[in-house]
Amino acid sequence: MSLLIDTDPGCDDALALLLALESDLDVVGLTTVAGNSTITNTTRNTLALLDFFDSDLPVARGAGRPLVKRQDTAEFIHGEGGLKGDLPAPTREPVDISGAEFIVEKACEDGDLTIAAIGPLTNLALALGIEPDLPELLDDVLVMGGAVYAPGNRTPAAEANLHADPDAASRVLQSLDPTFVGLGVTMRATLDPATLDRSGRRGAIVEEWLTYYPDDVRERYGIDRSPIHDAAVIAHLTDGVLTLEDRALEIDTREGPCRGALLSDEYGVTEEPENGRVATDIDAERFRETMGEAIESVL
Ligand code: BDR
Ligand code: CA
Repeated sequence: MSLLIDTDPGCDDALALLLALESDLDVVGLTTVAGNSTITNTTRNTLALLDFFDSDLPVARGAGRPLVKRQDTAEFIHGEGGLKGDLPAPTREPVDISGAEFIVEKACEDGDLTIAAIGPLTNLALALGIEPDLPELLDDVLVMGGAVYAPGNRTPAAEANLHADPDAASRVLQSLDPTFVGLGVTMRATLDPATLDRSGRRGAIVEEWLTYYPDDVRERYGIDRSPIHDAAVIAHLTDGVLTLEDRALEIDTREGPCRGALLSDEYGVTEEPENGRVATDIDAERFRETMGEAIESVL
């Protein structure tokens, strides 16, 4: 299986990339998207992370704003510049095509590509505009997004990635048969940094990613550890940690308090056909083991 990661680093994105790059997954490249910070910052962070992991995978700079509405960023969670840990400036540049074009190029080359989308879905929606046959060229689309079994983290109804660009998310849902890995499971994807050897510079950087939620935010959520949302998607690809169930799904794109909410027809009350799936459970212990082993191997 070949994998393309669409990302907006982001501390949990950083740990997702760590896990993917330390695994046997065949990662063919990365695309960046504005989300946790501006596109300039998320692209710089992606390139700096690949330097940190000693990877020369290609990176394509993606969308700098959502399809329709204004951009919304989350530096208050992930740090100034969108990524804690103070990495050196990257040593290389992105490739000279856009994120959406890169997705289409890799999908055409491969014919059976899997996408892990761990930021807003703008690039994928734009890729669908470029290549209407994209659904036939992709094997699987896994999205970190949605809050079916948990309260929203951006609004009471909506999770941050889907809230950042609901119009793109809705477009993706209409044609790509996506799997949504939402807060109901990702809030349980955690790792106690005390279980790791955090001595040395690399250990200190990884610890910053693992503890990225500010104390006041953790207190508000009533949690001890920072959820590594995005890595749950990758851990499913490496270790099958999630339980997935097919559902009839819809994304609310209307203005109002539910904009960006993922609606899942749990009881089949709409009698609409299933058009995607949601993660209903996570093997949190297995996630901890997988994540812990991957981190130990880069320290
Ligand atoms: C998602 O939003 C971002 O802040 C995280 O990187 C993750 O992709 C969690 O809601
Ligand atoms: Ca992310």
